[in-house]
Amino acid sequence: MQQETTKEILNNGVQRNLILYFSGTGNCYSIAKRLAEISGGAKTVRITPQLVEEAEKGGKSFAAQKVIIVFPAYAYGMPPVMYGFFKRVAIISPYIAVIVSHGTKYGAALSQTKRQARKCGTDIKGYFDIKSVENFAPIFGLPSDAEIKIQTEEQYNQTEIIAEKIKENTLNKVKRGFYLPYGFVSGIFRLFRPLLNCSFIISDKCVKCGLCAKKCPAAALVFTSGEKPKLKRRKCQCCQGCINVCPKQAITFAGMRKSRRRYLHPDFQQAAGSLSDKSNGSDTETEADNS
Ligand SMILES: Cc1cc2nc3c(=O)[nH]c(=O)nc-3n(C[C@H](O)[C@H](O)[C@H](O)COP(=O)(O)O)c2cc1C
Ligand code: SF4
Ligand code: SF4
Repeated sequence: MQQETTKEILNNGVQRNLILYFSGTGNCYSIAKRLAEISGGAKTVRITPQLVEEAEKGGKSFAAQKVIIVFPAYAYGMPPVMYGFFKRVAIISPYIAVIVSHGTKYGAALSQTKRQARKCGTDIKGYFDIKSVENFAPIFGLPSDAEIKIQTEEQYNQTEIIAEKIKENTLNKVKRGFYLPYGFVSGIFRLFRPLLNCSFIISDKCVKCGLCAKKCPAAALVFTSGEKPKLKRRKCQCCQGCINVCPKQAITFAGMRKSRRRYLHPDFQQAAGSLSDKSNGSDTETEADNS
Protein backbone atom coordinates (compact mmCIF):
# COMPACT_ATOMS: atom_id res chain seq x y z
CA MET A 1 0.00 0.00 0.00
CA GLN A 2 2.71 2.42 1.05
CA GLN A 3 4.78 1.40 -1.99
CA GLU A 4 1.94 2.01 -4.41
CA THR A 5 1.40 5.46 -3.01
CA THR A 6 5.08 6.29 -3.30
CA LYS A 7 4.99 5.21 -6.94
CA GLU A 8 2.04 7.49 -7.55
CA ILE A 9 4.01 10.33 -6.04
CA LEU A 10 6.90 9.72 -8.38
CA ASN A 11 4.44 9.61 -11.26
CA ASN A 12 3.61 13.25 -10.53
CA GLY A 13 0.21 12.61 -8.95
CA VAL A 14 1.21 14.77 -6.01
CA GLN A 15 2.97 18.07 -5.39
CA ARG A 16 6.76 18.05 -5.47
CA ASN A 17 7.80 19.66 -2.21
CA LEU A 18 6.04 20.07 1.07
CA ILE A 19 7.47 21.77 4.15
CA LEU A 20 5.96 21.23 7.59
CA TYR A 21 7.22 23.39 10.45
CA PHE A 22 6.66 24.26 14.09
CA SER A 23 7.85 27.67 15.22
CA GLY A 24 7.44 29.96 18.23
CA THR A 25 9.53 33.03 17.46
CA GLY A 26 10.00 32.58 13.72
CA ASN A 27 13.42 30.96 13.19
CA CYS A 28 11.85 27.75 11.88
CA TYR A 29 9.25 29.76 9.99
CA SER A 30 12.10 31.58 8.23
CA ILE A 31 13.92 28.32 7.41
CA ALA A 32 10.70 26.85 5.99
CA LYS A 33 9.97 29.98 3.97
CA ARG A 34 13.50 30.14 2.53
CA LEU A 35 13.44 26.44 1.63
CA ALA A 36 10.14 26.97 -0.16
CA GLU A 37 11.58 29.90 -2.12
CA ILE A 38 14.80 28.07 -3.00
CA SER A 39 12.90 24.98 -4.15
CA GLY A 40 11.06 27.15 -6.68
CA GLY A 41 7.76 26.84 -4.94
CA ALA A 42 6.57 24.58 -2.17
CA LYS A 43 3.64 24.41 0.10
CA THR A 44 4.38 25.22 3.77
CA VAL A 45 2.14 24.05 6.59
CA ARG A 46 2.46 25.05 10.22
CA ILE A 47 2.49 22.16 12.69
CA THR A 48 0.19 22.79 15.65
CA PRO A 49 -1.36 20.63 18.38
CA GLN A 50 -4.68 21.25 16.58
CA LEU A 51 -3.30 19.61 13.44
CA VAL A 52 -2.29 16.61 15.54
CA GLU A 53 -5.77 16.49 17.13
CA GLU A 54 -7.39 16.61 13.68
CA ALA A 55 -5.14 13.74 12.62
CA GLU A 56 -6.13 11.76 15.69
CA LYS A 57 -9.83 12.20 14.95
CA GLY A 58 -9.95 11.77 11.24
CA GLY A 59 -6.58 10.51 10.09
CA LYS A 60 -4.49 13.10 8.37
CA SER A 61 -1.77 12.42 5.87
CA PHE A 62 0.59 14.45 3.75
CA ALA A 63 2.01 13.21 0.49
CA ALA A 64 4.71 14.79 -1.64
CA GLN A 65 7.77 13.81 -3.59
CA LYS A 66 9.86 15.49 -0.91
CA VAL A 67 8.78 16.35 2.64
CA ILE A 68 10.89 18.57 4.92
CA ILE A 69 10.02 18.86 8.61
CA VAL A 70 11.49 21.81 10.55
CA PHE A 71 11.25 22.43 14.30
CA PRO A 72 13.29 23.89 17.19
CA ALA A 73 15.23 21.99 19.85
CA TYR A 74 13.59 22.26 23.26
CA ALA A 75 15.61 21.23 26.33
CA TYR A 76 17.94 19.13 24.14
CA GLY A 77 14.98 17.27 22.66
CA MET A 78 11.90 17.64 20.46
CA PRO A 79 9.13 20.11 21.32
CA PRO A 80 6.22 18.21 22.94
CA VAL A 81 3.95 18.66 19.90
CA MET A 82 6.37 16.69 17.68
CA TYR A 83 5.77 13.43 19.57
CA GLY A 84 2.08 13.54 18.70
CA PHE A 85 2.90 14.73 15.20
CA PHE A 86 4.98 11.66 14.34
CA LYS A 87 2.49 9.38 16.08
CA ARG A 88 -0.66 10.70 14.42
CA VAL A 89 0.23 12.29 11.10
CA ALA A 90 1.03 9.97 8.21
CA ILE A 91 3.69 11.22 5.83
CA ILE A 92 3.98 9.55 2.47
CA SER A 93 7.08 10.43 0.52
CA PRO A 94 10.15 8.75 -0.97
CA TYR A 95 12.38 11.40 0.65
CA ILE A 96 11.73 12.86 4.10
CA ALA A 97 14.23 15.22 5.76
CA VAL A 98 14.23 16.75 9.24
CA ILE A 99 15.90 20.03 10.21
CA VAL A 100 16.32 20.99 13.87
CA SER A 101 16.96 24.66 14.58
CA HIS A 102 18.81 25.36 17.83
CA GLY A 103 20.44 28.18 19.73
CA THR A 104 23.46 26.40 21.19
CA LYS A 105 23.23 22.58 21.25
CA TYR A 106 20.48 20.36 19.88
CA GLY A 107 21.52 17.47 22.15
CA ALA A 108 19.24 14.49 21.61
CA ALA A 109 16.68 16.25 19.40
CA LEU A 110 17.68 14.41 16.21
CA SER A 111 18.11 11.00 17.86
CA GLN A 112 14.72 11.39 19.54
CA THR A 113 13.22 12.26 16.17
CA LYS A 114 14.76 9.15 14.64
CA ARG A 115 13.41 6.93 17.44
CA GLN A 116 9.92 8.42 17.41
CA ALA A 117 9.65 8.44 13.60
CA ARG A 118 10.85 4.82 13.35
CA LYS A 119 8.40 3.73 16.02
CA CYS A 120 5.62 5.32 13.99
CA GLY A 121 6.76 3.88 10.66
CA THR A 122 8.18 7.07 9.15
CA ASP A 123 11.47 6.57 7.33
CA ILE A 124 13.56 9.76 7.52
CA LYS A 125 16.39 9.91 5.02
CA GLY A 126 18.12 13.18 5.89
CA TYR A 127 18.91 14.65 9.33
CA PHE A 128 20.16 18.24 9.53
CA ASP A 129 20.60 21.00 12.09
CA ILE A 130 20.84 24.77 11.77
CA LYS A 131 22.25 27.16 14.33
CA SER A 132 19.80 30.03 14.90
CA VAL A 133 19.32 32.80 17.43
CA GLU A 134 18.74 31.34 20.91
CA ASN A 135 15.20 32.44 21.76
CA PHE A 136 15.01 31.21 25.35
CA ALA A 137 15.75 34.68 26.70
CA PRO A 138 14.36 34.17 30.23
CA ILE A 139 17.13 31.70 30.98
CA PHE A 140 19.97 32.49 28.58
CA GLY A 141 19.39 36.14 27.72
CA LEU A 142 19.48 37.44 24.15
CA PRO A 143 22.60 38.17 22.11
CA SER A 144 23.31 41.80 21.17
CA ASP A 145 21.49 43.25 18.12
CA ALA A 146 24.71 43.07 16.09
CA GLU A 147 25.17 39.42 17.03
CA ILE A 148 21.53 38.66 16.17
CA LYS A 149 22.14 40.15 12.71
CA ILE A 150 25.22 37.97 12.18
CA GLN A 151 23.42 34.84 13.39
CA THR A 152 20.40 35.59 11.19
CA GLU A 153 22.67 35.83 8.12
CA GLU A 154 24.38 32.60 9.14
CA GLN A 155 20.99 30.89 9.41
CA TYR A 156 20.19 31.99 5.84
CA ASN A 157 23.55 30.63 4.64
CA GLN A 158 23.07 27.30 6.36
CA THR A 159 19.55 27.03 4.98
CA GLU A 160 20.92 27.45 1.45
CA ILE A 161 23.58 24.77 2.00
CA ILE A 162 21.03 22.32 3.39
CA ALA A 163 18.55 23.13 0.61
CA GLU A 164 21.21 22.03 -1.88
CA LYS A 165 21.79 18.77 0.03
CA ILE A 166 18.05 18.09 0.14
CA LYS A 167 17.81 18.81 -3.57
CA GLU A 168 20.35 16.04 -4.12
CA ASN A 169 18.38 13.65 -1.88
CA THR A 170 21.35 13.42 0.49
CA LEU A 171 21.16 10.50 2.89
CA ASN A 172 22.78 11.16 6.23
CA LYS A 173 22.68 9.70 9.66
CA VAL A 174 22.17 11.19 13.09
CA LYS A 175 25.51 12.08 14.63
CA ARG A 176 26.19 9.94 17.68
CA GLY A 177 26.45 11.82 20.96
CA PHE A 178 25.81 11.51 24.66
CA TYR A 179 22.14 10.62 24.44
CA LEU A 180 21.47 9.84 28.10
CA PRO A 181 22.11 13.21 29.82
CA TYR A 182 20.34 15.08 27.01
CA GLY A 183 17.45 12.61 26.98
CA PHE A 184 17.14 13.04 30.74
CA VAL A 185 16.90 16.84 30.54
CA SER A 186 14.39 16.58 27.72
CA GLY A 187 12.27 14.06 29.70
CA ILE A 188 12.24 16.36 32.74
CA PHE A 189 11.16 19.26 30.54
CA ARG A 190 8.28 17.28 29.04
CA LEU A 191 7.15 16.08 32.45
CA PHE A 192 7.34 19.38 34.30
CA ARG A 193 6.36 21.77 31.50
CA PRO A 194 2.92 22.56 32.97
CA LEU A 195 4.62 23.42 36.28
CA LEU A 196 7.21 25.56 34.52
CA ASN A 197 4.36 27.39 32.84
CA CYS A 198 3.14 28.49 36.29
CA SER A 199 5.82 31.17 36.00
CA PHE A 200 3.94 32.86 33.13
CA ILE A 201 2.65 36.23 34.27
CA ILE A 202 0.47 38.62 32.30
CA SER A 203 0.93 41.96 34.00
CA ASP A 204 -1.36 44.98 34.23
CA LYS A 205 0.53 46.49 31.27
CA CYS A 206 -1.79 44.26 29.14
CA VAL A 207 -4.13 46.35 26.97
CA LYS A 208 -6.32 43.32 26.12
CA CYS A 209 -5.61 43.45 22.40
CA GLY A 210 -5.70 39.66 21.98
CA LEU A 211 -2.66 39.53 19.69
CA CYS A 212 -0.82 36.97 21.82
CA ALA A 213 -3.80 34.59 21.65
CA LYS A 214 -4.03 35.02 17.87
CA LYS A 215 -0.34 34.21 17.45
CA CYS A 216 -0.14 31.27 19.84
CA PRO A 217 0.58 28.14 17.77
CA ALA A 218 -1.04 25.93 20.40
CA ALA A 219 -4.30 27.77 21.11
CA ALA A 220 -3.08 27.87 24.70
CA LEU A 221 -4.20 31.44 25.38
CA VAL A 222 -7.91 32.02 25.73
CA PHE A 223 -8.93 35.58 24.95
CA THR A 224 -12.28 37.10 25.78
CA SER A 225 -12.81 40.69 24.68
CA GLY A 226 -12.20 43.14 27.50
CA GLU A 227 -10.26 40.65 29.62
CA LYS A 228 -6.63 39.63 29.99
CA PRO A 229 -5.89 36.35 28.17
CA LYS A 230 -5.84 33.18 30.26
CA LEU A 231 -3.14 30.55 29.84
CA LYS A 232 -4.00 26.86 29.50
CA ARG A 233 -0.84 25.49 31.03
CA ARG A 234 -1.12 21.95 29.67
CA LYS A 235 -1.59 23.15 26.11
CA CYS A 236 1.28 25.65 26.19
CA GLN A 237 4.39 24.45 24.32
CA CYS A 238 6.61 27.04 26.05
CA CYS A 239 7.51 28.39 22.60
CA GLN A 240 8.05 31.99 23.79
CA GLY A 241 5.96 33.38 20.91
CA CYS A 242 3.42 35.32 22.98
CA ILE A 243 6.09 36.86 25.21
CA ASN A 244 7.88 38.25 22.20
CA VAL A 245 4.86 39.29 20.19
CA CYS A 246 3.10 41.31 22.90
CA PRO A 247 3.34 45.01 21.93
CA LYS A 248 3.32 46.05 25.60
CA GLN A 249 5.84 43.48 26.86
CA ALA A 250 3.17 42.50 29.35
CA ILE A 251 4.02 38.78 29.42
CA THR A 252 6.95 37.49 31.43
CA PHE A 253 8.21 33.99 32.05
CA ALA A 254 10.48 32.69 34.80
CA GLY A 255 10.91 36.25 36.04
CA MET A 256 12.66 37.21 32.74
CA ARG A 257 15.77 37.67 34.81
CA LYS A 258 18.33 37.56 32.02
CA SER A 259 16.68 39.72 29.41
CA ARG A 260 13.97 42.28 29.14
CA ARG A 261 14.50 42.55 25.38
CA ARG A 262 12.27 40.65 23.01
CA TYR A 263 13.04 38.66 19.86
CA LEU A 264 11.17 37.63 16.72
CA HIS A 265 12.91 36.57 13.52
CA PRO A 266 12.65 39.47 10.99
CA ASP A 267 10.87 37.23 8.41
CA PHE A 268 8.27 36.38 11.06
CA GLN A 269 7.74 40.03 11.91
CA GLN A 270 7.21 40.77 8.23
CA ALA A 271 4.65 38.00 7.91
CA ALA A 272 2.73 39.21 10.96
CA GLY A 273 -0.20 40.39 8.88
CA SER A 274 -0.70 37.13 7.04
CA LEU A 275 -0.25 34.99 10.12
CA SER A 276 -2.38 36.91 12.55
CA ASP A 277 -5.80 35.73 11.43
CA LYS A 278 -5.18 32.02 11.30
CA SER A 279 -2.11 31.30 13.35
CA ASN A 280 -4.11 29.01 15.66
CA GLY A 281 -5.06 26.77 12.79
CA SER A 282 -3.10 24.30 10.76
CA ASP A 283 -3.83 26.18 7.54
CA THR A 284 -1.36 26.43 4.75
CA GLU A 285 0.41 29.74 5.05
CA THR A 286 2.50 29.90 1.94
CA GLU A 287 1.46 28.35 -1.27
CA ALA A 288 3.66 29.02 -4.20
CA ASP A 289 3.51 26.99 -7.36
CA ASN A 290 4.03 23.29 -6.98
CA SER A 291 5.63 22.77 -10.32
C1 LIG B 1 11.60 25.92 25.81
C2 LIG B 1 12.81 26.10 24.98
C3 LIG B 1 13.88 25.24 25.13
C4 LIG B 1 15.01 25.39 24.32
N1 LIG B 1 16.02 24.49 24.44
C5 LIG B 1 17.09 24.57 23.62
C6 LIG B 1 18.12 23.59 23.70
O1 LIG B 1 18.08 22.63 24.47
N2 LIG B 1 19.20 23.74 22.89
C7 LIG B 1 19.30 24.78 22.02
O2 LIG B 1 20.32 24.86 21.31
N3 LIG B 1 18.33 25.72 21.90
C8 LIG B 1 17.22 25.62 22.68
N4 LIG B 1 16.21 26.54 22.56
C9 LIG B 1 16.32 27.58 21.54
C10 LIG B 1 15.55 27.25 20.28
O3 LIG B 1 15.69 25.90 19.91
C11 LIG B 1 16.03 28.11 19.10
O4 LIG B 1 16.14 29.44 19.44
C12 LIG B 1 15.12 27.95 17.89
O5 LIG B 1 15.76 28.51 16.79
C13 LIG B 1 13.78 28.62 18.08
O6 LIG B 1 12.99 28.42 16.92
P1 LIG B 1 11.66 29.26 16.63
O7 LIG B 1 12.08 30.71 16.55
O8 LIG B 1 11.20 28.76 15.30
O9 LIG B 1 10.70 29.00 17.72
C14 LIG B 1 15.07 26.43 23.36
C15 LIG B 1 14.01 27.30 23.24
C16 LIG B 1 12.88 27.14 24.03
C17 LIG B 1 11.74 28.09 23.86
S1 SF4 C 1 -0.56 40.78 23.34
FE1 SF4 C 1 0.02 41.67 25.31
S2 SF4 C 1 -1.30 43.43 25.51
FE2 SF4 C 1 -2.23 42.14 23.94
S3 SF4 C 1 -3.66 40.79 25.08
FE3 SF4 C 1 -1.71 39.71 24.95
S4 SF4 C 1 -0.67 40.24 26.87
FE4 SF4 C 1 -2.29 41.72 26.59
S1 SF4 D 1 0.95 30.43 25.36
FE1 SF4 D 1 2.74 31.55 24.57
S2 SF4 D 1 4.50 30.24 25.03
FE2 SF4 D 1 2.66 28.98 25.26
S3 SF4 D 1 2.41 27.97 23.26
FE3 SF4 D 1 1.19 29.85 23.22
S4 SF4 D 1 2.52 31.42 22.32
FE4 SF4 D 1 3.82 29.68 22.95
